[in-house]
Amino acid sequence: MTTRIIGLTAAGFVLAATTALGTRAQEVRSDEAPPTVVQMEAQQVVAARRAAYFLSTQAVGQIKAATEEGGDLKRAVAGARMLANWAKVLPTMFPDGTKTEGSRALDTVWTDRAGFETRAAAYQQAALEVARFAEEGNREETAKAFMAMAATCHACHEQYRKE
Ligand code: HEC
Repeated sequence: MTTRIIGLTAAGFVLAATTALGTRAQEVRSDEAPPTVVQMEAQQVVAARRAAYFLSTQAVGQIKAATEEGGDLKRAVAGARMLANWAKVLPTMFPDGTKTEGSRALDTVWTDRAGFETRAAAYQQAALEVARFAEEGNREETAKAFMAMAATCHACHEQYRKE
């Protein structure tokens, strides 16, 4: 099965428009650019999102080391920002048709899409909280925010991931 993924190449389009329209190019807004549609196999999408999840456990470890083991809080900032970025795009890595044999995603990801997206948004907010407190150098609050963020992982897994 193949799944269509939308990819934006706004910069490429604007460049092309500049050549074609000369001075009128500034009026071209990037959101008017036709999106480039690429084809990807469902298995590739699943492999990519699983890779991102496994990488995110590295960031979690980094934050844990910084908060619980007295490490450099700057490392927690970087890790938490990375997780927030991942959380933001996380739902896009679950397009229709990507419930493959190797995937641990439950049907609920697609049947309760709004709930899934709400969970992802809560995760993003929680990660941003970690980054904020870590940036302030507040170890105690960073540790608390970290626990709250970990709870958003578990909450989503309970409803949307197979054990
Ligand atoms: C919005 C829901 C959601 C959130 C939030 C979330 N996950 Fe997941 N996670 C999933 C789903 C669904 C899968 C299954 C993906 C698949 O196999 O297709 C998954 C898979 C994983 C996997 C891969 C497991 C495997 O065997 O394939 C790891 C590791 C993981 N998550 C860790 C985390 C961590 C750590 C966090 C928080 C820092 C987190 N997840 C937050 C929904 C979520």
